Amino acid sequence: MDQIRIGIVGLGHRARGEWIPQLCRLAGFRLTALCDRITALHEPALALIPYRQDVRAFRAYDDLLAWDGIDAVALCVRSLDQGAMAAQALEAGKHVHAEVPASHSLADCWRIVLASERSDRVYHLGEQVRYAGFVEAWHNLVAAGRVGRVVYVEGQYIGYYGTTQFSQDPSTGAFYSVEELAAHPEARPTVLQTMPPIHYLPHELSPLLKVIDDRVVQVVGMGTDAPSWNHPEINQPDLQVALMKTAKGSVMRLACGFTCPVPHGLHHWYHIHGTRGRLEMERSGLEKPKLWLADEQMHQPAAVDWRWQRTDAPREAAAAGHLGTDYYAHASFREALLSGKTPELDVYRAMETAAPAILAAESIERGSIPLAVPDFRPGPHRARGQAPVEAA
Ligand SMILES: NC(=O)c1ccc[n+]([C@@H]2O[C@H](COP(=O)([O-])OP(=O)(O)OC[C@H]3O[C@@H](n4cnc5c(N)ncnc54)[C@H](O)[C@@H]3O)[C@@H](O)[C@H]2O)c1
Repeated sequence: MDQIRIGIVGLGHRARGEWIPQLCRLAGFRLTALCDRITALHEPALALIPYRQDVRAFRAYDDLLAWDGIDAVALCVRSLDQGAMAAQALEAGKHVHAEVPASHSLADCWRIVLASERSDRVYHLGEQVRYAGFVEAWHNLVAAGRVGRVVYVEGQYIGYYGTTQFSQDPSTGAFYSVEELAAHPEARPTVLQTMPPIHYLPHELSPLLKVIDDRVVQVVGMGTDAPSWNHPEINQPDLQVALMKTAKGSVMRLACGFTCPVPHGLHHWYHIHGTRGRLEMERSGLEKPKLWLADEQMHQPAAVDWRWQRTDAPREAAAAGHLGTDYYAHASFREALLSGKTPELDVYRAMETAAPAILAAESIERGSIPLAVPDFRPGPHRARGQAPVEAA
């Protein structure tokens, strides 16, 4: 194969703003199909493709999967079924390049793992923060032992994009803010009013677990209660927090919330505390990220110009979203299919960004009880029955 024939499923913000333009631009990809159950979105998506006459539009996902004109699907849906849809594609013999989160249930995590193991198809999660410049630098510092043994890890996505993403007209695809709802009785709550906010941890767990080269084994969660205190029209808690323990014994504190305003551009924050040093991203535009090493005669942390942008980014990355990091997710999937290389965010690492978040929400639901995270990787623990029981 020298070109991946790919169909994009879900033609909303992310597909039209990033995936369609990128996959049209990048060598090695050929968009052959689009799919969305909202047919009103087909034309705006087709209009972005220079060779639109060669692209087939589908309303039903099953019809796309049954078509022999694609090798792979790019899953850009926002749905509680996005994990099941990925597994379904693998089961239909298609490679999967999926948007985050990978899944919203443990059963779907297992279904994806088993489907990818039983087929020779690639499952790849397109999480991009793990490729950021600061993540690469932190990974190298931790791997070289410069901060000692990692004791504590923090990550949070406390973001705010107004209220439009919470209500949508299912026939036109138009989104409405809470102030517009009275004039638009046709608007319905989107999945963001059903999905626990803490499910949206891939942009924290993916880069942070890469930095510490670890996986989560135990989770406990807590949150405020729905509806939102800030926007009572939205049936969601304003904040959910999880404490996690890793296989190497580190403690993580992760948080998500999407209904309270924050200063612009300060949605994500990351921090690593080790036995011999600390790494910290900036908390505001008034400061820089910080590095402190106990063994280097540093009385105060040093400000370091770490950014999401990479100093070694190729030209192709310049036009990609999220400060160029989106490019690397597509490049990793392309390399996996065209060169047979295992993708950096393979099926096991992908599930490790989803399962702890799913269990954090379950912990909250069950009164903040601690829950064990299954190990998806092949091994004797799998033979003891964990996978089949979970997948049933
Ligand atoms: N990587 C990132 O930084 C990033 C940023 C934003 C969103 N996302 C992820 O991207 C995905 C899409 O987000 P969005 O903002 O574009 O959402 P959106 O709601 O604007 O678009 C999603 C589209 O999927 C379609 N869809 C849902 N289920 C479908 C089905 N079964 N068959 C066909 N179409 C279906 C919907 O009709 C909708 O048009 C989500 O998973 C989201 O979490 C990732």
